[in-house]
Amino acid sequence: MRILVACEESQVVTTRLRAAGHTAFSCDILPCSGGHPEWHLQRDVTELLKERWDAILAFPPCTYLTVTGNRWFDIDKYGLKAVIRHFDRYDAVAFFKLFADADCPRIAIENPVGTMSTRWRKPDQIIQPWQFGDPVEKKTCLWLKGLPKLTDTKVVQPLERIKFASGRTMTPWFAESWNLPRADRATARSKTWPGIADAMVSQWFPSPQNQAAEWLKDLL
Ligand SMILES: C[S@@+](CC[C@H](N)C(=O)[O-])C[C@H]1O[C@@H](n2cnc3c(N)ncnc32)[C@H](O)[C@@H]1O
Repeated sequence: MRILVACEESQVVTTRLRAAGHTAFSCDILPCSGGHPEWHLQRDVTELLKERWDAILAFPPCTYLTVTGNRWFDIDKYGLKAVIRHFDRYDAVAFFKLFADADCPRIAIENPVGTMSTRWRKPDQIIQPWQFGDPVEKKTCLWLKGLPKLTDTKVVQPLERIKFASGRTMTPWFAESWNLPRADRATARSKTWPGIADAMVSQWFPSPQNQAAEWLKDLL
């Protein structure tokens, strides 16, 4: 299949799709960190959405969409900064909708819990990395078209949350990312967890050999 993995610099999903025999391309305005520039389209994704794709998997930026940032939209408290943030959210919603409205038979859009659930529609599924073998908490919404919900592959216990003196708790992977230079933090935090990427590829786009093996298993 010809598959576009939009807003993906890590190539975590793209490299797995390639290994399964698909003609997959990652696209991001950033250079890729996955080691395969020959499969990476470093540009704005908008024009690419007008091409013919068998599937589009999209990981649009969540900075202005996630509920965790909601307090920054309080205009009484934050004045002009909050007004600008409302405009940024407007643009982020429009960007997200480009994927939702793309003319493609199979679409998956991934994002944290956020404003799209009320502005557009509830996600089809909310998953966590710990359902797919990574002992990590990160509530991840999936909006799906022409693709089934993912089923758990390996449920594991998430690592214990770190407790701060203030009483606040944080998942260890998120806390560790504070050690990174500011510019690298968002990129590190937004990489797709490998177990989820494995599930996306094996359940949505199995290689022909694996598909044949599954059919044989059902027959025997
Ligand atoms: C939430 S991150 C997703 C990262 C992804 N999960 C990964 O593993 O690489 C969103 C990504 O969208 C990219 N991006 C933002 N605007 C874009 C655009 N107009 N076209 C293509 N990529 C864009 C950002 O550079 C960022 O890497």
